[in-house]
Amino acid sequence: MTKIIKELTNSNLEILKSEILNQNLVIFPTETVYGIGANALDKIAVEKIFKVKTRAINNPLIVHLKDKAEISKYAYIENEVEQKLIDTFMPGPFTLILKKQPNIPSSVTANLDTVGIRVPINKIAHEFLKFVEVPIAAPSANISSRPSGTKVSDIKDEFNYLVNYIIDGGESEIGLESTVVKVVDNTPLILRPGFITKEDIEKVIGKCLVSEHVLKEVKKDSQVESPGMLYRHYAPKTKCLLVYSASFPNLKKLIIENLDSKTIILGSDKLKDIPCYKFINYGNTLLEISHNIFHLLRQCDKYNANLIIIEGVKKEGLGLAIMNRLIRTSNFNYKEL
Ligand code: TXA
Ligand code: MG
Repeated sequence: MTKIIKELTNSNLEILKSEILNQNLVIFPTETVYGIGANALDKIAVEKIFKVKTRAINNPLIVHLKDKAEISKYAYIENEVEQKLIDTFMPGPFTLILKKQPNIPSSVTANLDTVGIRVPINKIAHEFLKFVEVPIAAPSANISSRPSGTKVSDIKDEFNYLVNYIIDGGESEIGLESTVVKVVDNTPLILRPGFITKEDIEKVIGKCLVSEHVLKEVKKDSQVESPGMLYRHYAPKTKCLLVYSASFPNLKKLIIENLDSKTIILGSDKLKDIPCYKFINYGNTLLEISHNIFHLLRQCDKYNANLIIIEGVKKEGLGLAIMNRLIRTSNFNYKEL
């Protein structure tokens, strides 16, 4: 059975280190979401992640480091823009795609010549990474296609017997995965939006582009900058419809037109009076929504509903990250008025 570690005492850290060095997986908290980690330098350990998550082998993993001084051991920083992004946003909820060094196994990067590097700012993640003394390859802790894990009670059953130890760090502060950025022709390109926004990056670099795939469905065999864009993600078992309108009467109209007798409405307080099977408040600010959303999507499955109608947000700032997740949650079932 999986053991849950609540405190990083020295003896617990020793246990976790030997788990990692013995090619096992450890679930650990970060400021974004929980990660399921393995020794990034060990091919066999890394392969276990793909097996346990049922993750497509062509979807590369992010390598987590204890601090940014370590980056040059595993990747090449090739220009000033990359250096500036590192200086500004690391440690933090930010992943930079860099040219990889040969010591990173190709199973981590799905045979790409680049590697995603992240330095979490979460204290527990930092202590864990520091103690194990190896870089940790980790995707979000969820079975592939399910919402990412943001609290231990949501994921412990999913991984029972598959992982020996989970470090419990409480609820993930941010609740959405890191912003993934690649520098192309000296310009940052956001492959996956997150808490660090386009606007934040523009403040330091001047220009920042967003991949056209962020809000668009990608055909299975197409060439994309980030393979994660290809897959169904963040999805509860219940069917979802995402709706958005800048006008409240139109939003209400969209919802009423689409609901049936077993529809959950997942949205902000202003929708609470629309008669429905179950209303769930996901928060009233972008920060609250980002913090709550993955947990609530999992909760929605408990009501045996026919449909979840999810209120969309404006695709700006953190709202872009929220919409990037919700549009995939709903499998591109999206209506705007
Ligand atoms: O916040 C996070 O990033 C969390 C925590 C645990 O750090 N991790 C996470 O990992 O979300 P994962 O595996 O669920 O998502 C990684 C994303 C995928 O979309 C993947 O395709 C992309 O990053 N990615 C990783 N390496 C890449 C590379 N070399 N080139 C392009 N995209 C890459
Ligand atoms: Mg994931």
